[in-house]
Amino acid sequence: MAKKLYIKTYGCQMNVYDTNRMTDVLVPLGYETVDGPEGADMVILNTCHIREKASEKVFSELGQLRRIKERRESKGEKMLIGVAGCVAQAEGEEILRRAKQVDLVFGPQTYHRLPEMVTQALGNTTGRGISDTDFPVESKFDFLPEESLPQGSSAFLSVQEGCDKFCTFCVVPYTRGAEFSRPVKSIIEEAKRLVLNGTKEITLLGQNVNGFHGEAPDGKSWKLGRLLRALAEVDGLERLRYITSHPNDMDDELIKTHQELSTLMPYLHLPIQSGSDRVLEMMNRKHTADHYRKIIDKLRDACPEIALSSDFIVGFPGESDRDFAETIRLITDINYAQAYSFKYSPRPGTPAAGIDAQVPEDIKSQRLAMLQELLNAQQISFNQSMVGKNLSVLIERKGREEGQLGGRSPYMQSVFVQAPERLMGHIVEVKIESAQPNSLNGSVVTGDFDTLDRHTVNEKQTAMEARI
Ligand code: SAH
Ligand code: SF4
Ligand code: F3S
Repeated sequence: MAKKLYIKTYGCQMNVYDTNRMTDVLVPLGYETVDGPEGADMVILNTCHIREKASEKVFSELGQLRRIKERRESKGEKMLIGVAGCVAQAEGEEILRRAKQVDLVFGPQTYHRLPEMVTQALGNTTGRGISDTDFPVESKFDFLPEESLPQGSSAFLSVQEGCDKFCTFCVVPYTRGAEFSRPVKSIIEEAKRLVLNGTKEITLLGQNVNGFHGEAPDGKSWKLGRLLRALAEVDGLERLRYITSHPNDMDDELIKTHQELSTLMPYLHLPIQSGSDRVLEMMNRKHTADHYRKIIDKLRDACPEIALSSDFIVGFPGESDRDFAETIRLITDINYAQAYSFKYSPRPGTPAAGIDAQVPEDIKSQRLAMLQELLNAQQISFNQSMVGKNLSVLIERKGREEGQLGGRSPYMQSVFVQAPERLMGHIVEVKIESAQPNSLNGSVVTGDFDTLDRHTVNEKQTAMEARI
């Protein structure tokens, strides 16, 4: 009988990708995935360490898992608990000390070694979990098996990992290690496999994805723009995106691909964190607000419709009212389609956590509320500007309501339509009828029905009728 595996994923898209790859490693050992921890033979928490709350959640989840494990053990059954991801990397020893129910702890760069770890954990009688949080010399990508399951119509593909930028607030350089770019050949092979299995949209992932510089078959090192152009040639791949980028790696070639590649979606997440040069310097971002504005101007020249997104941190140590006002000014000037914003959270071991001038919690809350009010207003007006337009939408999930399907517009907005389920996985044209703060609603006007060879003519007709 297949053993049951449940992986709970926290944090960024990179963790989502890693969860899928861990599954690929474990399926050959006889595991199949289930939707919850009850009855699972192995539970893995794939964790995030980016802000304080993220790691707190892990310890509270481990408390609940302990109770499930104890119940299983009282019936003579075994259940393995693993902690993976960035909390595991940063606090592996602490986890094993505090949470005795944990059998294995491993980091983002060692999960290709899971088969050995699982065997070891199953035979472990020491009463202490095993741990592998190395930064190995070998690359996990050279050892991971091919995808065991189709990855869906929209899939992630990790092309770059790690970070050498050391922003003073951030744990990522410590949890993910040094910057590494995968070779172009293996990326293209993975993209082709994804497309063969039904994927239409690929989002290239990396902590500094636009810092990509992978070894190419021509012996040269390719940057992201070149890689995107090569991927756009993959037959059947209809949409490309990439996340997350750093302003300093936004080179002209990459900006030009936004003008020239129709496969590249007109959306860019380009975090700036703060609009104040003083704060940017304390953050070690190594660019000014003006430099960022110039990049945005170039991007808008290259692709006038581009939807922009960013990350902001409020209450970085030493941030004054004036600094904060600069951030508000920058947001007002740029006009974002959407953005993420966070209160600064001191992370152990990072330089900013040691700065004396920490901003009081109530000021952080006030600033966050102000900033989010402005960003929300911008997002709503961006969404409203879509009403009456036709957008191409990749349908990828069921909606909340009966008969409703959901997908993404080119600009990353969630779009909901009433449509037959067979449109799942297809790109359809949707007329937008209404806009909400976080989504759009519309109706399907055309689709790629004509190219759907798996549908009969009758089904096509029904689909056509369904949109009237
Ligand atoms: N590599 C990306 C972002 C990685 S982390 C970049 O360079 O922009 C995702 C976001 O989390 C960051 O952009 C930042 O806004 C936020 N973040 C990171 N560390 C944080 C901290 N200590 N407190 C609050 N927010 C933080
Ligand atoms: Fe963190 Fe800065 Fe690296 Fe982004 S660039 S992952 S914020 S250190
Ligand atoms: Fe979190 Fe690690 Fe991603 S800290 S945001 S899971 S790189």
